[in-house]
Amino acid sequence: MRKLILALAVLILLATAVALYPSYVEKPVKDGAGPLAVYISAEYAAPEYHSPLDFWQTHHMDMVNRGDLEQADCLYCHVPEYSCNNCHDYVGAQRIEK
Ligand code: HEC
Ligand code: HEC
Repeated sequence: MRKLILALAVLILLATAVALYPSYVEKPVKDGAGPLAVYISAEYAAPEYHSPLDFWQTHHMDMVNRGDLEQADCLYCHVPEYSCNNCHDYVGAQRIEK
């Protein structure tokens, strides 16, 4: 009887571990899939300083922190919640507030 209860307890533990195992989440990619996908309204064309885009993706923080560009001006085109913060939460950078 005791063995049966133990075996059942182990089975239940294994089943919950499998059921609660963290699932794969897509990275925050523009127009990507999943809850972290980055969206930017197609209404706006990208400004010149976004080009080349891969440089901008890795250096926009330098421009803003150095004061070359105002963060408030970014929010003319970008909605922070799904255009900045989904990626910032993912990488652990500070959130963009209005
Ligand atoms: C005139 C509108 C506009 C302004 C102003 C603007 N952006 Fe953008 N931004 C865009 C567009 C459009 C894209 C998408 C470009 C593409 O996919 O080719 C983009 C892309 C980006 C991306 C890349 C997202 C990704 O995952 O590929 C980042 C980061 C970004 N912008 C940050 C900023 C920051 C920081 C500022 C302010 C300094 C700013 N943007 C100002 C329109 C704008
Ligand atoms: C695709 C990912 C991504 C997107 C989208 C994105 N960022 Fe960033 N951002 C980063 C990364 C990575 C860092 C660097 C974090 C670090 O070095 O600690 C960063 C840092 C910053 C910093 C400097 C913060 C600090 O603590 O020094 C600012 C300001 C900033 N981003 C503005 C924006 C704005 C405004 C937007 C939306 C228009 C935006 N970012 C969208 C990835 C992104």
